Amino acid sequence: MDNSQLARDGGPPVRSDPLPSVMTASGRRFGDDEVKAVERVLRSGMLSATWGTEVPALELEFAALYGAEHAVTCSSGTAALHLAVAAVDPEPGDEIITTPISDMGTVFPIMMQNAVPVFADVDPITGNLTPETVAAAITPRTKAVIVVHLFGKPARVQELRELCDRHGILLIEDCAQAYLAPVGDTFAGRIGHIGCFSLQQTKHISAGDGGIAITDDAGRARRMRLFADKGWPRDTDERTYLFLALNYRMTELVAAVTRAQLTRLRGVVGDRRAAAARVSAGIADLPGVTTPPDGGDHVYWQYPLILAPAAGDLHEWAAALTAEGVPAVGGYLTSPLYAAPAVRERITYGTSGFPLQDVAYPVGLCPNAEELIGHRLLVLPWNENYTDRDVADIVAAVRKVHHALAREA
Ligand SMILES: Cc1ncc(COP(=O)(O)O)c(C=O)c1O
Repeated sequence: MDNSQLARDGGPPVRSDPLPSVMTASGRRFGDDEVKAVERVLRSGMLSATWGTEVPALELEFAALYGAEHAVTCSSGTAALHLAVAAVDPEPGDEIITTPISDMGTVFPIMMQNAVPVFADVDPITGNLTPETVAAAITPRTKAVIVVHLFGKPARVQELRELCDRHGILLIEDCAQAYLAPVGDTFAGRIGHIGCFSLQQTKHISAGDGGIAITDDAGRARRMRLFADKGWPRDTDERTYLFLALNYRMTELVAAVTRAQLTRLRGVVGDRRAAAARVSAGIADLPGVTTPPDGGDHVYWQYPLILAPAAGDLHEWAAALTAEGVPAVGGYLTSPLYAAPAVRERITYGTSGFPLQDVAYPVGLCPNAEELIGHRLLVLPWNENYTDRDVADIVAAVRKVHHALAREA
């Protein structure tokens, strides 16, 4: 049999058993500590953070891990970003600059607070916002920037902080994909005014769903805490609702599991980095394939490759790799976030289109983002439990597909 024939064309696949995946126990590190944590909470009879001990303990532990003054827990990464936007407290119609390549959890909180998302373009390799593209999008109505560290690669966040400080606006870091990602002598999430994290199933650590926001500012921390708790001031004896807010409270069960997961985080990040370094070394010579730029700071939520036109068609690559037993997604999203119906067609509150009634998000708004999503960005799911054999198979599959699809091959 011809081993170089692609599996999609009937050849033998590089890999016939599944790689470890975040969708099964194979790719998650849930052990006895998590089981004991759940049992401890259930047996205590107290599942609510309002009177429980696990959530306050998690908040102290997470703040300490990051060297932050305050950590505020909530029910999801989207909720954490909503807390952050609520702390910005924009007037209706104020603008918040963000990225067109992320989960919509980055953007909907802006719209829910009746502010307008302004999409700045991204770096053509990392897919991250840049100080240059953000600077070009600032107007007198800009109140904040939400920067995403896409796939675990830190954005140029120190320069972004300087830019925000010059303009008197706030910087929020969406670290849902970037736990413990080094930036200078600290981590992504500590450069901006607020850093937001997700505990959703696919993240570096998980409790199913959950979110955490960190900050050094006591006023913002209190506002976020109130926003997650219907504005009910538990730190005073008032029995009232101080401002419009929701119930985004984390439960004791989630906090207890997260505390156990936190003890594994450094190992997860280290193992993901080690596997990625070996794959990058194994495919570095392939013309037209750019491996993730890594100055020791990438924490690999996913493993993104950038394909030059000569490497072949992105969607053919994704299908061919998947057929080889190495799942891959072309583009990460089908379209930039501003092209989603909720945004471009303003499907928001009734038929009002509010708060987007005066904005348009045309095709071509962010050319680099559109090019990445449509033609260049190939995303391989990543995992802390990849073995030497898994890494070798990923390298072999990428090399095989390159050989078959690259134009000069
Ligand atoms: C970059 C980014 N921001 C925000 C979110 C939203 O987090 P969650 O799903 O926990 O609401 C996610 C992931 O889901 C994400 O990857």
